[in-house]
Amino acid sequence: MMPPQKPYRALRAPSGVRAMFDRIAPRYDLLNHLLSFGIDIAWRRRSVRVLAPGAGERVLDLCCGTADLCLALAGSGAQVIGADFSRRMLALGRRKARRRRSTVSLCGADALALPFSPASFDAASVAFGVRNLADPLAGLREVRRVLRPGGRLLVLEFTPPRRPLIQHAHRLYLRTALPALGLLVAGDADAYRYLAKSISAFYEPGAFVRLLGEAGFEPSTPIELSGGIAAIYHARAVGEPAASASRSPVA
Ligand SMILES: C[S@@+](CC[C@H](N)C(=O)[O-])C[C@H]1O[C@@H](n2cnc3c(N)ncnc32)[C@H](O)[C@@H]1O
Repeated sequence: MMPPQKPYRALRAPSGVRAMFDRIAPRYDLLNHLLSFGIDIAWRRRSVRVLAPGAGERVLDLCCGTADLCLALAGSGAQVIGADFSRRMLALGRRKARRRRSTVSLCGADALALPFSPASFDAASVAFGVRNLADPLAGLREVRRVLRPGGRLLVLEFTPPRRPLIQHAHRLYLRTALPALGLLVAGDADAYRYLAKSISAFYEPGAFVRLLGEAGFEPSTPIELSGGIAAIYHARAVGEPAASASRSPVA
């Protein structure tokens, strides 16, 4: 049996996380593509194929940021609603959606208290968002609440690689290149130091799969991406969702 892992909590308070994303929003997309050498685009495409949203399905993209995944998901004809608590990330997402004449709708909301009715979505996705939540288990339970029984969840998240050589290179990259590029391009080494620390501290895939089970999902085997530096988790909502108080949109 695996030893229990200490529950992960975001390394900053929600107000700090929100302020940080508001601050880096104008450079977020550029740095994302630069820091990942553009692989993030392929990861999001793969995520869309795995979630396979159907035309007319209601899909929630949580922690949607500047809406890249929302826009990719909407290509199938699904009705995509993006939610995030950073006003500046959302403003950039809305601008992008208008430019592409997309029908996605974006709303300001806290992932831990969503302004949606129970069982009101067919599918949901969270890309690089769970790691930033004050309580990831509570966040997953909140997604479970708004999904219909049998609804699908996709989580795209960084993972600590297991192979020693990749592990070594990855650690070096997180500690040095990431904050340096963050400083150079966004003028913000601190945000990218946070990113590096949160990636190193986050759940390894086996532990995250167990967390999904605890939150009321039946997870499939995770899909390892790019030598194990990220993973796609796919799961189905099972059982009765835990009740939770939903709130009004925050923006
Ligand atoms: C790393 S970005 C990911 C954005 C986007 N999903 C992507 O793939 O590029 C994380 C996003 O999560 C949002 N976020 C973090 N905690 C949140 C919370 N409690 N409620 C809503 N959004 C949150 C941040 O504002 C930020 O836009």
